[in-house]
Amino acid sequence: MSVDMYRITEQPYYRPVGDEVALYEAAYRHRIPVMLKGPTGSGKTRFVEYMAWRLARPLITVAAHEDMTAADLAGRFLLEPGRTVWHDGPVTLAVRHGAICYLDEIVEARQDTTVVIHPLTDARRMLPLEKRNEILAAHPDFQLVISYNPGYQSAVKDLKESTKQRFVAIDFVYPPPAIEQEIVMRESGVDASDARLLVEIATRSRNLRGQGLDEGASTRMLVHAGRLLVAGVRPAAAVDAAIVLPMTDDAEMRAALRDAIAACL
Ligand SMILES: Nc1ncnc2c1ncn2[C@@H]1O[C@H](COP(=O)(O)OP(=O)(O)OP(=O)(O)O)[C@@H](O)[C@H]1O
Ligand SMILES: [Mg+2]
Repeated sequence: MSVDMYRITEQPYYRPVGDEVALYEAAYRHRIPVMLKGPTGSGKTRFVEYMAWRLARPLITVAAHEDMTAADLAGRFLLEPGRTVWHDGPVTLAVRHGAICYLDEIVEARQDTTVVIHPLTDARRMLPLEKRNEILAAHPDFQLVISYNPGYQSAVKDLKESTKQRFVAIDFVYPPPAIEQEIVMRESGVDASDARLLVEIATRSRNLRGQGLDEGASTRMLVHAGRLLVAGVRPAAAVDAAIVLPMTDDAEMRAALRDAIAACL
């Protein structure tokens, strides 16, 4: 199977916030696995897409989940008329063809699944395919990237120490206002004054963190609100639909959020 369908042909828009591009390039040069940490909607996925484009590597993304097994990552034999045929899983495909493999929300996977990546992410750089009695050496261009949302998971849903310590980490935070405005303008098409307003709303919601909200409004939410504005939705309705309602079901919390936001509108 070819990995051409995983190539990113057009430059994704990514606005750097710090030295993350240089850091990633340095890690990639040495094929060190990278861990992207940060809240939802802070640009982790967009960043990987951008780096894969920049480094001209195919990008194979896997959304990790609780029921994911080692075979879902490595591959399995499937029954076809008259024979069984081996199908590479996404990690095997990336290892074989030298892609960047992005395991999104890695903590969702069970720890016995996660250890599959251990021999790949140390000096061995190999993937044992037990079912095939084969040990696959990683293509020289292969690299593993995982994302990790430090806020939400409980202690039970943490990564093993032996997994964590294989990665260099890049921390994602919501960007400083001027940069976030630039992103919201570019991604949604709102003008500078609307972008400034949306970022101000985000700042206020982020100040309510820990007072009933786990997270403030993400950059993603601001982009959504901006798109509604551009489509002609009234500001109060757009902000409610894109920010307040998705964030909380709690009536008091919604009221508190609307209060905090009202001053901006
Ligand atoms: N630095 C950035 N440059 C360009 N766009 C950005 C940036 N940060 C956030 N965005 C915008 O925010 C949206 C959400 O970002 P992204 O999907 O990368 O978040 P994420 O960190 O992967 O979130 P999750 O943890 O929920 O998967 C993007 O689609 C993009 O519109
Ligand atoms: Mg993502």
